Amino acid sequence: MTLPQATTKHAQLVAEIRHHDNLYYTEARPTISDQEYDRLYRALADLETEFPGLATADSPTQRVGGEPVKAFRPVQHQVPMLSLDNTYSQEEARSFVKRVQKLLPNATLAWTVEPKIDGLAINLRYENGALISGATRGDGVTGDDITSNLKTIRSIPLKFFGAKNPPRVLEVRGEAYMKRAGFKKLNTGRIAAGEEPFSNPRNAAAGSLKQLDPRITAQRPLDAIFYGVGHYEGEETFATHQQWLQHLKALGFKTPGKIWLCQSEDELFAAIDQLDKIRHDFEYETDGAVIKLNDFAMREEVGYTSKAPRWAMAYKYAPEQLQTRLNDITIQVGRTGVLTPVAELEPVFLAGSTIGRATLHNEDEIKRKDIRIGDTVTIEKAGEVIPAVVGVVESKRPANAAPFDFFQHAGGKCPVCGGPIARDPQYVAWRCQNLQCPAQATRRVEFFTARGALDIESVGGIVADKLVEHGLVREPLDLFNLTLEPLGALNLGTEESARMFGNKNAEKALQAIERAKTAPLSRWLFGLAIPEVGKTTALQLATFHDTIEDVAESPLLRDVIAYHEKIEQARQARREQSDQHQQLKSEAEAAAQRLIGAGFAEKSRRKNEKEAGINTELGPVVAHSVLDYFGSPNGKEVLRRMQALGIHPKSQKAAASKAEQPFTGKTFVLTGTLPMLTREAASSRIESLGGKVTGSVSKNTDYVLAGAEAGSKLDKAQALGVPVIDEAAFLKLCGPF
Ligand code: IVH
Repeated sequence: MTLPQATTKHAQLVAEIRHHDNLYYTEARPTISDQEYDRLYRALADLETEFPGLATADSPTQRVGGEPVKAFRPVQHQVPMLSLDNTYSQEEARSFVKRVQKLLPNATLAWTVEPKIDGLAINLRYENGALISGATRGDGVTGDDITSNLKTIRSIPLKFFGAKNPPRVLEVRGEAYMKRAGFKKLNTGRIAAGEEPFSNPRNAAAGSLKQLDPRITAQRPLDAIFYGVGHYEGEETFATHQQWLQHLKALGFKTPGKIWLCQSEDELFAAIDQLDKIRHDFEYETDGAVIKLNDFAMREEVGYTSKAPRWAMAYKYAPEQLQTRLNDITIQVGRTGVLTPVAELEPVFLAGSTIGRATLHNEDEIKRKDIRIGDTVTIEKAGEVIPAVVGVVESKRPANAAPFDFFQHAGGKCPVCGGPIARDPQYVAWRCQNLQCPAQATRRVEFFTARGALDIESVGGIVADKLVEHGLVREPLDLFNLTLEPLGALNLGTEESARMFGNKNAEKALQAIERAKTAPLSRWLFGLAIPEVGKTTALQLATFHDTIEDVAESPLLRDVIAYHEKIEQARQARREQSDQHQQLKSEAEAAAQRLIGAGFAEKSRRKNEKEAGINTELGPVVAHSVLDYFGSPNGKEVLRRMQALGIHPKSQKAAASKAEQPFTGKTFVLTGTLPMLTREAASSRIESLGGKVTGSVSKNTDYVLAGAEAGSKLDKAQALGVPVIDEAAFLKLCGPF
């Protein structure tokens, strides 16, 4: 095919596709099958692959194109985008009509009534019939350039077809929205993917149009309806709103489907009533009726305030309310571990849908409204979408309804994992304290990346939050599957005000994640948030084990458990004067010997108190918890994934026992009263630095720490030549620890 032939063919295909786009997306009456449409579309795409010069910006293939952006360019509206005065009261609406009549005393007024679309105001600029830019309202003077996103809305013409003489400039105003059915589907998908659902179609539309990557916007069920004019330079003239809407329709725009022309106040309110009756069947949310003066010349005479036209008003429908019974309050756990109470209602049909549940926000909100299970409550749809419990009908309260006690109702534990809960003093929220709780994805990832753990600061805090929110990460190990592109395009802002993480930051983060693969074992043990394993315990575990697999199957930890169990049983047997006493004692001794052999415990110098030499950090509670963790399906999965990902934490087995513990192998005896430290504080400091505290002085004692009124131990130390130190000297020995 020659280029001229291709150009002709291209023009034909484009015209045909535009025609069918208009029929399908704008007028909702397609005349060809999806397959036929796809065939046309593919022919066009193929032609453009062969002749790339033909793929101009207004080609139907270019709706979803372009790379993600970092931020939106500001655009100044040629004519400011005003807002509308609004009211909920008929009386105010009537005085609005009277006000306008007073300004135009001799005129016969005609009004239009049309739906107020609950979406996002947008402005499109066309020059010589081609879409040049599309923007949000912003502050009314300057908006955000969201052209690439708006181009993905199939009912928005990229070019006027059929217009013989397109206007030189046309700025057209309307509302972008998310279709109700599409919104529901989108939210169902988000919930299934563990993402936060949108609270209503308006937010969903705003969020979708503020995506930095138009490919995401393209997947959202958006549409747009146009009703207004910003700037116009063209041949045709329009005398009324009705004519203007007809013109927009002829150019290929979607316009308000239903509009009433009213000659009197009575007709006007009848129209408003009719709209109220049918609005729940529209594909978009409508929370009101917009009343506009039909005649453009009259509009100019009436004029504007600085914020809004004097010739229009939005009449808002009061949110519908209903009473229903509160059957129960259930508790949901969010990804940050916050427990949210949810009202389980006797299902009722309200404002277009059946309501069975509503959030109760938090404990304080329930207390403030004194909401009790069994109460009859008043509900409404806030913003017409999210159901809310407005209050209680106290006269209908059953006699036995008790005030709601959050902690008691939750049974004192997390409803997801059964872990402990505590009220977060910073917020009005109860939180699950168990980092292994399946619901707590964000907190787990934040903990894992924190400084004392894997120290991957670049993906901590808000980044971790957003990674989880956008479904890229759910478990800490998911971080190791991250790739540059989605991480760079991660939106750290809100859906409405986007801010990209960026490729540079993403590269740095990926390097930090890679480095974490060989971080010291103790940091891994700590970062995995195994119950009972704090930093010191993690270090102790790493001291005695080479690899994480060694920890998982540690004979040492089994011996710790065995030793303590036998000791306990032996004590019991002794109390009961049972024959088994000796047997159990020797089993405990055997376990202790194995621990001593592993360097885990030192041979006690005191008879009958063998446990005195057993390392105290790694007691039976820790041992159980660690073995339980690695024996659980979750722990096994962590090990399996670490292996698959090639993660091999650095061994600290030799290093930790010598270099990192200044008192390793040293024995202390305390005597007298120290000036600052209590006996417990001194002991725990010695132990935490690897040393041991015993009760009596022998030639094996390394130091006697002596304070005021030291007794016989001091004499013995001096006799045996054991060094005696005071508190100041001791603190010096401890060093910066
Ligand atoms: S006319 C000069 N008509 O409501 C402003 N606005 O509350 C003229 N809206 O910013 C606006 N449906 O985004 C008009 N049928 C409709 C509308 C409508 C929704 C929005 C619009 C405006 C907001 C004001």
